[in-house]
Amino acid sequence: MAKLNVNGKDREFGAAPDTPLLWVLREQLGLTGTKYGCGLAQCGACTVHIDGQAVRSCVMPARALKETHKIVTIEGLSRNGTHPVQRAWQALDVPQCGFCQSGMIMAAAALLSDKPRPTDADIDAAMTNICRCGTYNRVRAAIKVAAQSTPRRAAARQQAQEGSAT
Ligand code: FES
Ligand code: FES
Repeated sequence: MAKLNVNGKDREFGAAPDTPLLWVLREQLGLTGTKYGCGLAQCGACTVHIDGQAVRSCVMPARALKETHKIVTIEGLSRNGTHPVQRAWQALDVPQCGFCQSGMIMAAAALLSDKPRPTDADIDAAMTNICRCGTYNRVRAAIKVAAQSTPRRAAARQQAQEGSAT
């Protein structure tokens, strides 16, 4: 058995060395909010956070991860759907069929924790997830709404980082 830290808890699993994290999450840990779309790191439906970074779990071998990595799935993003991104998604009624949306939300949450005030170019670079229902305009609008509720301190940190990079 191997161990992973998922949504703040140590979880045990048994899997062949090349089993993708996605299947460990869904089939062994019962976390089915993370979806399978392409299995090729193309669509983003399987996006989770590993140490705060958005990662496509369909191509990440679970056994390549250490117990010290912090994995967060859509189920662990917030209590009761209260993350600013989830609130903005609800306010703007972003999903259509919903299949791609947990991956979209996880990608957007990682973007905002890195860049609390993202530009359109930042959003384009981070949001490469595919939505067959074409919710892209609402996704972009919701990210901007969520950015408004991002704490000022985080935005100031981003400004300082960008200032020191120029
Ligand atoms: S299922 Fe992982 S990127 Fe499509
Ligand atoms: S909401 Fe249907 S695939 Fe995106």
